[in-house]
Amino acid sequence: MAIRKVIKIGDNNLRKTSKVVKDFDEDLWQLLDDMKETMYANDGMGLAAPQVGILRRIVIVDVNNMFVELINPEIIEQEGKDIEKEGCLSVGGFKGRVERPYKITVKALDRYGYPFVLTGEKWLARCICHEIDHLNGIIFVDKSMDKMEYLQKGGKI
Ligand code: NI
Repeated sequence: MAIRKVIKIGDNNLRKTSKVVKDFDEDLWQLLDDMKETMYANDGMGLAAPQVGILRRIVIVDVNNMFVELINPEIIEQEGKDIEKEGCLSVGGFKGRVERPYKITVKALDRYGYPFVLTGEKWLARCICHEIDHLNGIIFVDKSMDKMEYLQKGGKI
């Protein structure tokens, strides 16, 4: 395993749409293992592959000591609303309020290509939504109710 470099907001790779994963092979497993090590080394709750410069639809999360790998994730149900301050390993120092669904159900594939469905509430739901946004080139500051404050402090987009 290896810690990979987390790219920061302002890097164009964070604004691209990631591609669907088709090969469930050793390269994928290596990437997933590296992402896990990178996330823990940075005290993150989640990490998306584009944050390490790989434009593939891969995210990992660790909320309430539950570690999950999601390949090609898609939100299939959502309900409720929840507002909390969130941050991002690609956006150092700034935390801002974002409205997210309170509860989501996501379908995804595991590292071997097998499908599963996961329902999460509150922080698990928030974290998965945040990471899936990364796969679509969206960073939380785009959606934050505190975006003006971020921009006024000179934050990059
Ligand atoms: Ni993030």
